[in-house]
Amino acid sequence: MTTQRNLASVQIGFGTSPLKGDEATKAVESALAVGYRLIDTATKYENEEAVGRAIAASGIPREEILVQTKLRGHDHGDVRGALERSLEWLGVEYLDSWMIHWPLPMVGLYPKAFEQMALAQEEGLVRELGVSNFLPEHLDAVKEATGLVPAVDQLQFDPGLTRPELRAELTTRGIQAQSWSPLARGGEVLNAKPVVEVALARGITTGQTILAWHHSLGIVPIARSTNAQRQRENLEAVKIELTAEEMTKISSLPQRGLGDFDPRTRDER
Ligand SMILES: NC(=O)c1ccc[n+]([C@@H]2O[C@H](COP(=O)([O-])OP(=O)(O)OC[C@H]3O[C@@H](n4cnc5c(N)ncnc54)[C@H](OP(=O)(O)O)[C@@H]3O)[C@@H](O)[C@H]2O)c1
Repeated sequence: MTTQRNLASVQIGFGTSPLKGDEATKAVESALAVGYRLIDTATKYENEEAVGRAIAASGIPREEILVQTKLRGHDHGDVRGALERSLEWLGVEYLDSWMIHWPLPMVGLYPKAFEQMALAQEEGLVRELGVSNFLPEHLDAVKEATGLVPAVDQLQFDPGLTRPELRAELTTRGIQAQSWSPLARGGEVLNAKPVVEVALARGITTGQTILAWHHSLGIVPIARSTNAQRQRENLEAVKIELTAEEMTKISSLPQRGLGDFDPRTRDER
């Protein structure tokens, strides 16, 4: 017997950008085989078909897998068409989680788009509605226009971008935070001194230490790896609770700004 999963039941998701074609299919097949159950994609990644092939080949019952994709900027005015295309490319009859990828305030269609997505949810084509890269001002605009609050907001968080006020705001609103690029894309955060020290003291890897940091903050990291060993390692990491002292140590890394990824100005269609 299988049970329908929901977003609240998973502590980590598998990221698929920028993987495409066979590389994406192989990575998702491996991720499902080692135990990931939330798979994150987006129309913008141009890999929904490749991800769908892996889901179909896995032999895992559909209701056991959470399929999460995102409405791209070009589709804010064609929500229904976008949904039909995503369902077809993914080869599924419903989405578990559908997000607006970026708010694009310069276009100004996102509250209306969210309203249209809610109609698809009422029809049973989408289980949970989400957003990505939404700041409180964008969540306010959605609430004002539709009366609705997304279940989840996927944002950039890592030990170099801790954004405590934003996290507190999501908690107040009852919105689950997910983190994209949780390992800061395998960059220098992985080798930062406090991260290395905690990893050594615990006998875990630095990647695991960072993912445990996300988990201990109540964030669901969306991590990518094409390597089965690191996929497993990352899954194990979200069982680890760091102590308050370890958390403070890691969160004390120098903070960087949003740069090109500021949702108020980023025009990603
Ligand atoms: N919503 C958005 O706007 C948005 C934006 C960007 C990304 N995303 C989502 O977030 C996902 C994750 O972000 P990302 O792919 O940019 O970066 P990431 O998950 O932070 O980092 C991936 C990199 O880290 C390496 N890695 C993975 N596990 C590791 C470990 N345990 N130790 C050391 N290195 C490790 C991977 O290499 P190997 O493959 O060799 O292991 C890869 O190079 C994306 O795939 C996508 O689904 C969403």
